[in-house]
Amino acid sequence: MPRQKIIVANWKMNGSTEFVRQWVGQFKPNGNATVVICPPFPYIALLRQLLDESILVGGQDVSAVPTAAARTGEVSAAMLADLGCRYAIVGHSEKRQHGGDDDATCGEKCRAVLASGLSPIYCLGEPASVRVAGQAESYVVAQLQAVLSQLKSGDAQKLHLAYEPIWAIGSGQTPSAAEITQTHAAIRTALIRQIGAVGDRIPLLYGGSVKSANAQPILNLANVDGLLVGGASLLPNEFNTICER
Ligand code: PGA
Repeated sequence: MPRQKIIVANWKMNGSTEFVRQWVGQFKPNGNATVVICPPFPYIALLRQLLDESILVGGQDVSAVPTAAARTGEVSAAMLADLGCRYAIVGHSEKRQHGGDDDATCGEKCRAVLASGLSPIYCLGEPASVRVAGQAESYVVAQLQAVLSQLKSGDAQKLHLAYEPIWAIGSGQTPSAAEITQTHAAIRTALIRQIGAVGDRIPLLYGGSVKSANAQPILNLANVDGLLVGGASLLPNEFNTICER
C-alpha cells in the first residue's frame, strides 16, 4: 500500500561532536520521506537540538529494563524518550553477535521500548550460509515469530521491521531485487497470518549496503516501506540523495 517511506540512519559507533555539527550543516533533506537519525547515545541530545523538528531521532539499542534500575552502563527507553527519541533499533545483528542479544532479550527490549511510547525498529536477517541453503525466508519468519510471541496483541502493530541480511551489512553486496521482494513478501504474509489485517500496515524496511545508487530501485520494490542505512548515512551527500523521494 502506498505510504510515506521511512529512511533510518544507523551511525553505529561513529561520530564526534564536531562530526555531528558538520553533518547537520550538510544534511539537506529534500523529499517527503520520514527521516530518522540514530546516532550513538552521547550525541542524541546534541543532534536533537540541531536538527529541524521534522527529522526524527532514535537510539541504536536500549536496555531491556524499561526504567531506572541498577544497570551500570545501560540506557533505558524512558531516557531515550526524555531526549526526544521516537524510535529504538532492537535486535541489530551486531548486537546479537557482539552484545549477546538473543530472541528473549530482543523481546524484552521491544516491550521496554513500547512501554515508553517509542516504536521498536526490530531487525531480522539471515547469515550467508542460510541464504545459500535456500532457507532465508523460514529463518527470518522464525525470528519474527519469536518476537511476536513475546508482545501483547495490541502492541505488535506498533513494530517497525528491518530486513537486514547479515551478509549484506557493510559488505557492498545486496540481495537481488527478486530476493528482497520474496523475503519481504514472506515477512508480510507471516505478519498478516499472526496478527491479522493490521499486519499489512507495519513498515518493512530493507537494510544492508544501501547507497545512493541502489536506494531508489530498492524503495520501489513491493513491500519495501523504507531503508535502514549504515555506512552511507555517515556521508551527508550520499544520505541526502537516499532521502530524496
Ligand atoms: P550498512 O549497514 O548500510 O553499512 O550495510 C546497515 C546496518 O547495519 O544497519
